[in-house]
Amino acid sequence: MKYILITGVSTGIGQGILIELVKNGYFVFGTVRSKNDAERLKKEVNSDLFFPILTDVTDEKSIQSAFEIIRDKLQNNILFALINNAGILIGGPLVHLNLDHYRQVMEVNFFGTVKMMQTFIPLMSSIHKNKAASQIINISSVLGHYGLPYISTYTASKYAIEGFSDSVRREIKKLNINLVLLIPGAVKTLIFKKGANEEDYDYAKNTVFEHSGKNLRKQMLKREELGISSQKIGKKVIQILKNPNPKPRYSITGSPMVEWYWPKYLPDRILDFILNKILK
Ligand SMILES: NC(=O)c1ccc[n+]([C@@H]2O[C@H](COP(=O)([O-])OP(=O)(O)OC[C@H]3O[C@@H](n4cnc5c(N)ncnc54)[C@H](OP(=O)(O)O)[C@@H]3O)[C@@H](O)[C@H]2O)c1
Repeated sequence: MKYILITGVSTGIGQGILIELVKNGYFVFGTVRSKNDAERLKKEVNSDLFFPILTDVTDEKSIQSAFEIIRDKLQNNILFALINNAGILIGGPLVHLNLDHYRQVMEVNFFGTVKMMQTFIPLMSSIHKNKAASQIINISSVLGHYGLPYISTYTASKYAIEGFSDSVRREIKKLNINLVLLIPGAVKTLIFKKGANEEDYDYAKNTVFEHSGKNLRKQMLKREELGISSQKIGKKVIQILKNPNPKPRYSITGSPMVEWYWPKYLPDRILDFILNKILK
């Protein structure tokens, strides 16, 4: 039996990965923030291979109590994989946000991942060097590779995850742990709807940002609607977990040209020009 811990399984990508993992016979510790979500998911997944754990990744005590539960449940087994998926987005232009907006996003998307890794690496293959390597999968985003305007809180957090993961991957190889960045483009979830409310752009009313901020919001909602399914991300995760020597990065998008190659590889000034035209 292989044991996996994934954060943020209540909805979206986390839920999609959870379902694929259980289907493929992995035992999954999945974090949620409410008892209601735990009960709902227990019913939906309907399998002894799923064990929900109440955890808020911004709360160190809650991570420590998850650690104790998982350590006891594992007995002498290792944690085969940790998937850092929990994430939020807060929208709006820099000059109309405050520092707390940035802190909130960094607390979940970046520091949450750092703390989860520090806490759970001791349960991974590092303690059994003769066993197959364990895996950490950090869910990044194409927006960890190029910045769109009006979601700089999110972009900053995903760039942080990218740089942090590159650095740490080269350390933890010595502990017999592979670290993979999984980089989705638009996925059909509610993350943008949850984090970029129409009102978020109201405070930009009658400013130079009002029109293009709203346009960006519209474009993102459209992309979210047309995004790939969470199940597709789940299937990609299974492929990565089955690969004993995974690549450091996998991008996965429904429109690789529009979401990955052009924005990542076009010169910055050309991308600035195109975005300016689209969002005008
Ligand atoms: N959707 C996309 O287009 C897309 C593209 C690229 C990357 N991603 C990344 O994919 C990951 C999942 O996002 P999603 O699109 O599936 O969004 P989602 O449906 O909103 O799911 C986010 C998950 O994170 C959990 N979460 C939020 N704050 C948390 C906290 N403080 N502690 C623990 N869990 C917390 C949420 O739990 P609650 O239900 O309790 O809030 C939820 O389970 C994120 O890292 C996101 O950046 C998404």
